Amino acid sequence: MPERSNVRVLDDLQGISRAAADEFVAVSRQSIKDHGRFTVALSGGSTPKALHAILVEHSAKNPKLIDWSRVQIFFGDERHVPPDHPDSNFRMANETLLSKVPIPKENIHRIRCENSDAVQAAAQYDAELAQVFQLEANEFPRFDLILLGMGPDGHTASLFPKTAALKDLTKRVVANWVQKFNTWRVTFTRPTINNAASVMLMVAGEDKAAALAEVMNGGSPETYPVKYVKPTNGTVIWLVDRAAARLVKDIDRGK
Ligand code: 6PG
Repeated sequence: MPERSNVRVLDDLQGISRAAADEFVAVSRQSIKDHGRFTVALSGGSTPKALHAILVEHSAKNPKLIDWSRVQIFFGDERHVPPDHPDSNFRMANETLLSKVPIPKENIHRIRCENSDAVQAAAQYDAELAQVFQLEANEFPRFDLILLGMGPDGHTASLFPKTAALKDLTKRVVANWVQKFNTWRVTFTRPTINNAASVMLMVAGEDKAAALAEVMNGGSPETYPVKYVKPTNGTVIWLVDRAAARLVKDIDRGK
């Protein structure tokens, strides 16, 4: 069960996004200072859009705040669609962030889901992870930061309840068949997520309240896969809003 001390309740999505932007900036600056680059995996869905807008605004006001030339962007998961498709996580990130900051194109590592074979797309992405992180065969990347969301069913990335990817503890990234959507996804596995130095989850809205209560109050990870998020040697921060936290017991709701 997530430690209550790792959970911050903010008023609303804007509050979550401001807090997330501060954390993103702080981790990026510390990572670049410590080892010369900042490796970050973006989350899909709609929640991150507000964070992206704030990062664009911060960077425009203070170009020295984030040294984008040293930022390596990855994606925690991708839908099995081309990069220009409305459902593409890359398209969302590109439109709301990547096309608006001075990040070199070669620093953006998208999952090539235009490949009609999702398994091949996952293999290509795995090879890119291995190359950028200089990984040995059975080594997992250690991201400085992985951003995640949570669906109303408790999924995170594309680790959906009762799907095969939940059980894969050997691969870094896999193609995952999601019956409820009748589609393939490509997703980080649990070990990749849990090898990160820092994981930040953003959960906003009333539609997440029931699942978040189960996650925080004791539900099973098979049913609520986001509960698998437990970095083995890293930190986890939950940024949730009041609407999403409404049913969670024993939580500090701030002011
Ligand atoms: C995706 C995401 C997914 C997302 C949650 C929450 O590909 O959809 O990676 O895990 O974070 O579904 O989505 P919203 O932010 O849209 O609520």
